[in-house]
Amino acid sequence: MKADSKSKKSLGEYYSALQLRTDRWSALKIASEQLAESQSERKRTYAENKVVELLDALRPIELYWAFPGHDTFGRLGELVVTGRFDVLAGAVRNICRSLLSNSYRQNPHHHDVDELFEGSPDDDSNEHRGKDLLYFEVLIVDSLSAMQEANLRRTLGAMRRPEDPFVYELVFVPSLTDALIAVMFNHNLQAVVVRNGLKRESEQTLELLHRYLSRLDEEALDAIEPKEYGPELCRSIAKLRPELDVYLFTDQSVEEIAGTRLGNCQRVFYNQEDHLDLHLNILRGVAKRFEAPFFNALTEYARKPTGVFHAMPISRGKSITCSHWIKDMGDFYGMNIFLAETSATSGGLDSLLEPQGPIKRAQEKAARAFGAKQTFFATNGTSTCNKIVVQAIVRPGDIVLIDRDCHKSHHYGMVLAGAQVVYLDSYPLNDFSMYGAVPIREIKHRLLELKAAGKLDRVRMLLLTNCTFDGIVYNVERVMEECLAIKHDLVFLWDEAWFAFARFGPAYRRRTAMHCAAQLRERYRSDEYRAAYAKYQAKMADADDETLLKTRLMPDPDKVRVRAYATQSTHKTLTSLRQGSMIHVHDQDFKDEVEQAFHEAYMTHTSTSPNYQIIASLDIGRRQVELEGFELIQRQVEQAMSLRKVINTHPQISKYFHVLTVAEMIPAEYRKSGIKSYWDPEHGWSDIMSAWTEDEFVLDATRITLSVSGSGWDGDTFKNAILMDRHGIQINKTSRNTVLFMTNIGTTRSSVAYLIEVLVNIARDLDERLDYASNVERKIFDRRVKALREDLPPLPDFSCFHDSFRLSSGEGTPEGDIRSAYFLAYDESKCDYVPIEGNAIEKAIAAGRQLVSTTFVIPYPPGFPILVPGQVISQEIITFMRALDVKEIHGYRPELGLRIFTESALAALEASPSSIQELPA
Ligand SMILES: Cc1ncc(COP(=O)(O)O)c(C=O)c1O
Repeated sequence: MKADSKSKKSLGEYYSALQLRTDRWSALKIASEQLAESQSERKRTYAENKVVELLDALRPIELYWAFPGHDTFGRLGELVVTGRFDVLAGAVRNICRSLLSNSYRQNPHHHDVDELFEGSPDDDSNEHRGKDLLYFEVLIVDSLSAMQEANLRRTLGAMRRPEDPFVYELVFVPSLTDALIAVMFNHNLQAVVVRNGLKRESEQTLELLHRYLSRLDEEALDAIEPKEYGPELCRSIAKLRPELDVYLFTDQSVEEIAGTRLGNCQRVFYNQEDHLDLHLNILRGVAKRFEAPFFNALTEYARKPTGVFHAMPISRGKSITCSHWIKDMGDFYGMNIFLAETSATSGGLDSLLEPQGPIKRAQEKAARAFGAKQTFFATNGTSTCNKIVVQAIVRPGDIVLIDRDCHKSHHYGMVLAGAQVVYLDSYPLNDFSMYGAVPIREIKHRLLELKAAGKLDRVRMLLLTNCTFDGIVYNVERVMEECLAIKHDLVFLWDEAWFAFARFGPAYRRRTAMHCAAQLRERYRSDEYRAAYAKYQAKMADADDETLLKTRLMPDPDKVRVRAYATQSTHKTLTSLRQGSMIHVHDQDFKDEVEQAFHEAYMTHTSTSPNYQIIASLDIGRRQVELEGFELIQRQVEQAMSLRKVINTHPQISKYFHVLTVAEMIPAEYRKSGIKSYWDPEHGWSDIMSAWTEDEFVLDATRITLSVSGSGWDGDTFKNAILMDRHGIQINKTSRNTVLFMTNIGTTRSSVAYLIEVLVNIARDLDERLDYASNVERKIFDRRVKALREDLPPLPDFSCFHDSFRLSSGEGTPEGDIRSAYFLAYDESKCDYVPIEGNAIEKAIAAGRQLVSTTFVIPYPPGFPILVPGQVISQEIITFMRALDVKEIHGYRPELGLRIFTESALAALEASPSSIQELPA
């Protein structure tokens, strides 16, 4: 398992083995062409050595891929030995082209050794060219001889029938370790066949590949017995890539294997080599993920001739094709979209509000894919999903703990539900005018405070944003675990608007709500947990609050209920039309306690005319992510990492711009791993897995916050005047001195290259401008840079709700009745305005008056409310508002000032508190 020093060197250079593979093939192409063309002995020797070196370097990598395959690779080596350099260069060129264009996935003949060496696989006139096939690879884990491998390949190949919807090729690895490397490296895999002969250890020496294994508990693997290798491999694969189908061959008896957990094992074969059965199972497993019931139903519907006698003139394009004036709409969109526009719920279609057919099946498939117990589609975004979940769970008067810089849909959700709101403060990033996320200590502190006040039974929900717009990701498992130790049936709503993709990245998955809920549920059922809890309980029996705040708390397994909800904007990070979102549920008490209320809440917020195109896109987006999410996310992270590295090391770009590192976005106290950045010149790439396993917060690398203060432009100007107007680059989040670049599953190497080119050009222009600037102009520039770096107003914390909106005034807990304040403000006679310029506010505060906001006040950026209805306006908030030089502040009219409640309105409330919302009996 030891890595050689050469491969160690490449570890620092490459983020992923995938990049290494691509680069080595490109280098081999150049070297083999040089070899074929070289005239002199010296050049030939040099090129030949290079070719041999690269073939040696590629050999350990190619073991895990079906294309170009073992035989082809062997032939390349032979060509060097026999001096047939022209043939070698041609074959390497063909392989590279196939790999780069992915054409080997479409054309099975690319796997044909003779074709590769003699033909030109990209030639469309090639008579063998197959139809566009859906291609994947199957991993066989067994130590077989070359002849046995060839036999198995031949036998399974013979099972192929022309009508098969998919074709697959086999990849052979001998050991458990190799199998785990393969599932993390080869994104073409869709199924794994684990056979009896597998060993434990690998002969692989490339450290870059072993990096994948740092994600596993190697000691635990060392402890298992050989007969356990198969079942253990099944379980490990389920942890790394739960979407893969696994088939286990065993010689153990049914009794022995029954009751063993086997991860995502679809079928156990008892040692007979039933190849046809295996082949059919493999195809059926992939077909199950491929099937998109609602998308299929809609395309089927669109093909049927129907007469339209319902209220939808656009259906089947009728109102467009009959028109003289809007034909261009039809030309632009094409007919299919109109053929699929319908409000029918029968004829093979279904109703989103009461799904019984293909929508129901599509939702069930989504639940399986995203690891939920139930999944619900929504066609009006996560804004609506959030309101649905809050309304389903929270009754008027229930206490909800919520991060204040969460999306506005939550604040409005609180108003609608009539919640008593406890706002939680995230840690501030004052240097960049943005917030991080809420530390666990703050959450526990609030819960313990409510417990001490005897209000724990009214605490219903904790609502947090994971991950935040800027990419701060919680330790979801720890938050749920520790909170459940204080309040055993707390409901969690995780706003994963930006995190739908996370399920399909092995590191990311560990911090998703659905994964963590399943983990916790399993843990609390185990005897090990019970034993650990007994010890913990004995130690913590008389613990005071400070000890509780410092200790990792454990819930009582006899009482705890795991109740987690996640809302995801599928359209933000995966394939879906705009507004396509999902609600995922893992709630032990859903069926008994919530289902009915959930149904009502869903009815409250869902249109009776949901858009079928959106539903179909959610369904097919699910298919995509189950079959290729792993690959797409692997590539996305790779692009993001290289963008981070290039920007921070490019001599010109880094003069003015800088990608914020992990350390700049997450203070050291929340980073136990000590990891400061994903890459630095001294240490190369960090092992992100250790951070993702233990740190309180981690940074989603795919979101790149660029500090632009060095350019003298503020975030907003840089976004609009420079990126958009001059270079056509669109982004949507800025802070005073940063802009956020989001990569996504569609981000390509070329789009990254374009962004880098643009940043280089901008930096060059700045160089030029500063070169020709007068002394005065230079001074102005320096002053602007300093102001953007240093003159940043500290971010204000949540002040408090005014006593008039606190049922518990004087009891020391902070919850407030946002709903009463919100509706009181409908009465204009109870509202007044106060300008923020001048000293009217200071005067009023000095005179002992509390100024109370009637509305949400939300500056863009940063985009979170600095005031909510019923909140006392603090000096800190005013100072912040005055220092903000943003143009867009929702809820604030500069010509009038801040809208506040009149003194008499507040006095009337205090005199008659019953006018505030009553608690339920
Ligand atoms: C954290 C968060 N939650 C919810 C939403 C709303 O999502 P949607 O646009 O799908 O309605 C957003 C939108 O930006 C968001 O940032």
